[in-house]
Amino acid sequence: MTIRFDNRVAIVTGAGNGLGRAHALLLASRGARVVVNDPGGAVDGKGGNHAAADKVVDEIKAAGGVAVPNFDSVADPKSAANIVKTAVDSFGTVDIVVNNAGVLRDKTFHNMTTEDFDFVVKVHFQGTAYVTHAAWPILRAKAYGRVVVTSSNSGIYGTFGQANYGGAKLAVVGFMNALRLEGQKYNIMINALAPVAATRMTESLMTPEVLDKLRPEFVSPMVAYLCSEQCQRTGDIWSAGAGTFARIEYREAEGVRIAGRAPTIEDVLENIDRIADVSASRVFRTSGEEVAAVVGA
Ligand code: NAI
Repeated sequence: MTIRFDNRVAIVTGAGNGLGRAHALLLASRGARVVVNDPGGAVDGKGGNHAAADKVVDEIKAAGGVAVPNFDSVADPKSAANIVKTAVDSFGTVDIVVNNAGVLRDKTFHNMTTEDFDFVVKVHFQGTAYVTHAAWPILRAKAYGRVVVTSSNSGIYGTFGQANYGGAKLAVVGFMNALRLEGQKYNIMINALAPVAATRMTESLMTPEVLDKLRPEFVSPMVAYLCSEQCQRTGDIWSAGAGTFARIEYREAEGVRIAGRAPTIEDVLENIDRIADVSASRVFRTSGEEVAAVVGA
C-alpha cells in the first residue's frame, strides 16, 4: 500500500532546516499541503531570517508540491496561533501537526542561567503546547487529527549538559500522555518521536562517516507514518535514526509490598534490590492503572 496525504493539510514547525525540512519534503511529496514554519536563526535561537522557510517552500514547489512559508515563533501563544491561522487561511483547515521546532543552549547546570533554562523549555515544551492548542479545536471539530511531538534520547535517557533541553524533551511526553486520552474519541492520534540525525544540532558531535548514516530523511518515514490515516497507534514514543525504528516504553518493577503494618525505612533498605529489580515488570497505559496496581499489589 502506498501512503498518501491528498486533501490533508500539515503544519511542520522548525521546517527550515534538518529534520523538519525532511519531514515537510516527504509529506508534500505524498500530496500534503504544507505550512513550512521557521523564523530562521541560529541553533541557540538567536537571530532570524525568512530564507530558511522560503528555501524549503521553493524546494517543495520545484518538486511539484504545495507549500506556504510561515515565520512565526512557536514560543509565544499569539505567534503560535498565527502558524495555525496560516494553514487555515491558505488551505482551509489543518489535519496534521508536527511539532519539531527546537533550540539548544547546552551548559552544565551550575553554569546554566535561568534564562537559558526558560528559553529552551519555552521553545520545546510550551511551543509544542501553544501550536497544538491552537490546532486542537479544529482537529476535535473535524474528528480527525495526527499530532507528533519531538522528544529526545536526551530527555529519555540523559545527556550531560542538557538539563534544560532534556527536561523539556520529556515534558512533551507527559503532554502527549494526557492528549492521547483526550484525543482518542475524536480520532486524534498523538505520538512522540525520539530521532537521531545529522543536523546542525549534532554535526559537531560525530565523525563524517557516522553523520552520513544519520541523514534526516532516514527519520522522516516514521513521522509520515504517524501522520497517516493508516496510523491507529497513539501515545507511544518512537525512536528513529539511521534506518532503525523502535518503540520505547517504560516499565515498572513488580516491587515489594509491606502489608499489615506501616512500612519503615529499614524495609526499604533491606528490600532495595528487589524493589529495583525490573526482571518481572509491568507496563501501564494510564496513571489510574498504575495506582490500582500499587494499591492492590
Ligand atoms: P535544526 O536546528 O536543524 O532544526 C530546528 C529548527 O527549529 C531550525 O530550523 C530552527 O530555526 C527552528 N526553530 C528554532 N526556534 C524556533 C521557534 N521558536 N519557532 C519555530 N521554529 C524554531 O535541528 P534538528 O536536529 O533538525 O532538530 C529538530 C528537532 O529534533 C528538535 O526538536 C530537536 O530537539 C529534535 N532532536 C534532534 C535530534 C538529532 O539527532 N538531530 C535528536 C533528538 C531530538
